[in-house]
Amino acid sequence: MQKKILLLGSGELGKEFVIAVKRLGQYVIAVDSYAGAPAMQVADENEVIDMLNGSELDRIVAAHSPDIIVPEVEAIRTERFYDYEQQGIQVVPSAKAANFTMNRKAIRDLAAKQLGLRTAKYTYASNLDELKDAVKYTGLPCVVKPLMSSSGKGQSVVWTVEDIPVAWEIASTKGRADYGEVIVEAFVHFHSEITLLTVTQMHGPTIFCPPIGHRQERGDYQESWQPARIEPAQLEEAKQMAQQVTAALTGAGIWGVEFFLAEDGVYFSELSPRPHDTGMVTLAGTQNFSEFELHARAVLGLPIPEIILERAGASAVILAKQDGKNPTYSGIAEALAQPRSDIRIFGKPTTRPYRRMAVALAFDRIDCNITDLVERAKQIAGRVQVK
Ligand SMILES: Nc1ncnc2c1ncn2[C@@H]1O[C@H](COP(=O)(O)OP(=O)(O)OP(=O)(O)O)[C@@H](O)[C@H]1O
Ligand SMILES: [Mg+2]
Repeated sequence: MQKKILLLGSGELGKEFVIAVKRLGQYVIAVDSYAGAPAMQVADENEVIDMLNGSELDRIVAAHSPDIIVPEVEAIRTERFYDYEQQGIQVVPSAKAANFTMNRKAIRDLAAKQLGLRTAKYTYASNLDELKDAVKYTGLPCVVKPLMSSSGKGQSVVWTVEDIPVAWEIASTKGRADYGEVIVEAFVHFHSEITLLTVTQMHGPTIFCPPIGHRQERGDYQESWQPARIEPAQLEEAKQMAQQVTAALTGAGIWGVEFFLAEDGVYFSELSPRPHDTGMVTLAGTQNFSEFELHARAVLGLPIPEIILERAGASAVILAKQDGKNPTYSGIAEALAQPRSDIRIFGKPTTRPYRRMAVALAFDRIDCNITDLVERAKQIAGRVQVK
């Protein structure tokens, strides 16, 4: 049963997804806003369009008439997805999931108000005066974020009332321009944060991957590791929350559900209705199926008999330092000379400061010291230079 899959967004996560579905005999058209994107290099066909433009989206959907649409990023005119579903196209995981998760207000109100999940105390603001009131409501410190943004763009922490005007300026100008509202969240003093990869299936129960720990800097993850340390009761609570929120959003696929672990309990933060960047650690062979293979199976309605933790793993990002074109990589041999390690180079045609270009992977026995493993992944990453 070969399906035609239209992949919207062709970054490194899309690339690994394409490899996974190609191995299952599927046909893929990879789409992004620039030519030569990572997933395009392994897909059957590709298209370069502005995915925020609804008529451009309509045009390529009509031109290719795909069986399945798989969004890989948030910056898509996702309102169009409801129509595509009406036309009988499978939208992954669902039009509702794609629409709710790209808007922090929709997903946060669903989680906190409709489902009653524990989240940071939060409210919204549409101008500077409202932001001042919002900060009084959440208390200090608090985090201000545009309603539509990812990778920490437009986010800042308000430590004192003096920070409020700057936070407003950053959040209202760095998010997607079409929404002038921000969310204000009380700062959660967490001791760690995890991604709980959750798989919803067409013909089976919702299943979970062992939790992934990660560290964030400048809004992007720097290292991730699996399994993450968590109290069994807290893990159970996180699974319950992930089960509820994914069920409310409907559809089949993998989701990256983000939680903060604090002294006073587990906080739901947000979720991606797609493979999660911190889940690249599964490329280290930590599980019997990587997050991309799980997504492929779930999307195609194929069985996933079980998810098994095979070994411990860590990933560390390899970033570009400056603007450039057609980058080259040095130190690959030195990196690969390390036992129980690997790298993935995404093949992005251009660089800019802090752009993620590749990832280093390290793995070991399940009972190894995870802190040492993360250190080893960082060392491997440090050997590779982007030029
Ligand atoms: N209320 C909060 N309290 C403390 N830290 C926070 C809070 N909100 C966000 N953070 C920190 O900022 C990071 C990014 O926040 P969030 O996941 O909401 O934004 P994002 O832009 O969607 O990021 P991404 O798309 O990369 O997941 C979190 O992983 C966490 O480390
Ligand atoms: Mg996040």
